Amino acid sequence: MTQVKVVVDEVIGQINRNIFGHFIEHLGRCVYEGIWVGPDSKIPNTRGLRNDVIAALRKVKPSVLRWPGGCFADDYHWRDGIGDPAARPRTVNINWGYSIDTNAFGTHEFIDFCRLIGAEPYICVNVGTGTPQEARDWVEYCNFPGDSSLARLRKANGSEEPFNVKYWGIGNELWGCGGSIPPRDYAIEVRRFASFMRDFGGCGMYKIACGPRGNDPCLVRRDWVLEFFEGMQTQTLSDGCRSRVDGFALHYYTRGAGGGGDVDFTDHEYYWLLDAALAMECRIKQVRTAMDVYDPSRKVGLVIDEWGTWHLQAKGDTGLEQQNTMRDALVAALHLNIFIKHADKVVMTNIAQTVNVLQALILTQEEKMLLTPTYHVYDMYKQHQDSTAVRVLVDTPNVVSEGDECIEVPQVTGAASVRDDELFLTLTNNSISDECEVQLELLGVDIDAAREVKIEQLKSGDARDHNTFENPDIVRPESRVSSWGKGVLTLPPHSVTAIAVRLK
Ligand code: AHR
Repeated sequence: MTQVKVVVDEVIGQINRNIFGHFIEHLGRCVYEGIWVGPDSKIPNTRGLRNDVIAALRKVKPSVLRWPGGCFADDYHWRDGIGDPAARPRTVNINWGYSIDTNAFGTHEFIDFCRLIGAEPYICVNVGTGTPQEARDWVEYCNFPGDSSLARLRKANGSEEPFNVKYWGIGNELWGCGGSIPPRDYAIEVRRFASFMRDFGGCGMYKIACGPRGNDPCLVRRDWVLEFFEGMQTQTLSDGCRSRVDGFALHYYTRGAGGGGDVDFTDHEYYWLLDAALAMECRIKQVRTAMDVYDPSRKVGLVIDEWGTWHLQAKGDTGLEQQNTMRDALVAALHLNIFIKHADKVVMTNIAQTVNVLQALILTQEEKMLLTPTYHVYDMYKQHQDSTAVRVLVDTPNVVSEGDECIEVPQVTGAASVRDDELFLTLTNNSISDECEVQLELLGVDIDAAREVKIEQLKSGDARDHNTFENPDIVRPESRVSSWGKGVLTLPPHSVTAIAVRLK
């Protein structure tokens, strides 16, 4: 039987709520259609933003939202997206199909959306085709409470109060679509940009540099991380230094031909994809170990501001659209369990992307909207936000799948946190076919058999099950209240479970 032991007094760290963050890009139908329909649309909206999407996202407590990209960010000029919508330029989205961007969704619309869903804004500035001046001005426009010309312009455009944007990314994937810049050269760019992106409003700027490509065939390139930090120079990591960065962002997608299609995959492809998702932990370990060389006191947080499944269907010319099955839900849960396990270093993550693109939480079709299995994982996991992560020891057999290559994944993974004397434990059963009996033990805590346990479970008859616009509730969680008994719990095949129990 699988044993799950929660070491209640072994604290890993505070779980930063930003670990449950999201990402939207001007790409396909993510922003336009998925979020922005315009004030004249027949789809119910608030100042042009879809009401159904706002309500659904609010419920999962999205902590932070990254925008405008992605690759799009390094060719985006923020001045195109402010002022009279009718006068905004029509620009070409060179990264995603040379589509026309009307710029109807710009800075004000983004901030409006963040406020409506309850998320902190995280803006990625343009390093690739932009300048430190442009980035500096964007910060002033957003955050300056005084009477400068840029602050006046913001006020004239409808926002008397500053936006107080704390999180700022300095370019995106500089090793690729952001300009193919080597790490040392990028470090110099970061120092220049960061020096001028000042704390205009006193909201406490948190600057995030782009990190390595997690999908590099040689795993994460340790050299890339070391060369970047060497280029940053140690003093730029110290408090009070203008060119310092606070976060360093890894990207890693669960992708590859071995995983099959979004809804059409074999059992072996199912395991291949889960194994690829579990590789996230190896990337985290590699990057954090390399960061420790230059930042031994761990002042710089690890951010993973793009991650998620990228199935064969998702191609640039299809707007990176794909369906989302119970298998994707497991990928989300595996990642979140890993992030919680590394809560002492991982300060923010952003799943790609919120609506209609890649591992979306929400899919839309004109006026219809559906919640994907991944959405339900975020809803189930929200209790971890701002709680204290504690150690979980899982003794579980590996599930072995023989195919072109032999794949082994642990049958069960877990993560736990404590807040206000309540323990919250999240578990996955990764077997596609077998249920799993789990013996739970809370080390250092006496739990009597009658203790009430709240259980929420996401399961389905087939790992390929997914929600459709015709049948939007095929995969959805079920809740029940039980008692602790002997601490034995049965996890259905390919399922995600959340358990809450009072410790006193
Ligand atoms: O999320 C889709 C794309 O994937 C982003 O634009 C880019 O940063 C990454 O390669």
